[in-house]
Amino acid sequence: MRELLGWTEATAGPLVQTALKHDKVKLIANALGTPPANIVKEIQDTGRMVAALCGSVKHALSHKEAGIDIIICQGGEGGGHTGEVGSIVLWPEVIDAAAPTPVLAAGGIGSGRQMAAAMGAAGVWAGTLWLTTTESDCPPVNRSRHTLMPPTVILFALVPGPENPVVF
Ligand SMILES: Cc1cc2nc3c(=O)[nH]c(=O)nc-3n(C[C@H](O)[C@H](O)[C@H](O)COP(=O)(O)O)c2cc1C
Repeated sequence: MRELLGWTEATAGPLVQTALKHDKVKLIANALGTPPANIVKEIQDTGRMVAALCGSVKHALSHKEAGIDIIICQGGEGGGHTGEVGSIVLWPEVIDAAAPTPVLAAGGIGSGRQMAAAMGAAGVWAGTLWLTTTESDCPPVNRSRHTLMPPTVILFALVPGPENPVVF
């Protein structure tokens, strides 16, 4: 049996409903592919914005077509779970293809110089970087691994999703 883990009423539906109960939530983002049109509309009708991650131009065009407010373009450096194309190659392709939808660059951003490399993007989206902050509840031993690790070390995680279908 071949199954795709992604947007379903049963899995994502309750998560969206929970998020919508919190007034402070202004943006709902996901990496499970393009959300269904009715979900996008439901969120936008509450005055909130919808973002979606992509790892290819094809994903970005699908998000754009669905009226997603912000496309997060994540290269393979972002744990590899949205695709394998490197950030520096992917970002400009997606920025051009998604226009005029704003694109946030993601995947491997750990410093201001890397932010500067995301030229043309409306902003950046970082993940691992936040684990190193004083506000992070990441245990010190893990935090030091992030700060001491050579910058060329890239960790890949295979997370099931539309881009990584799981065959059972
Ligand atoms: C500790 C941690 C947990 C994450 N959990 C999820 C997750 O559950 N779902 C998801 O789509 N992305 C998850 N991400 C990915 C981030 O949202 C973000 O897209 C990614 O970390 C950006 O790449 P960077 O880590 O190179 O900055 C996680 C990242 C980190 C560091």
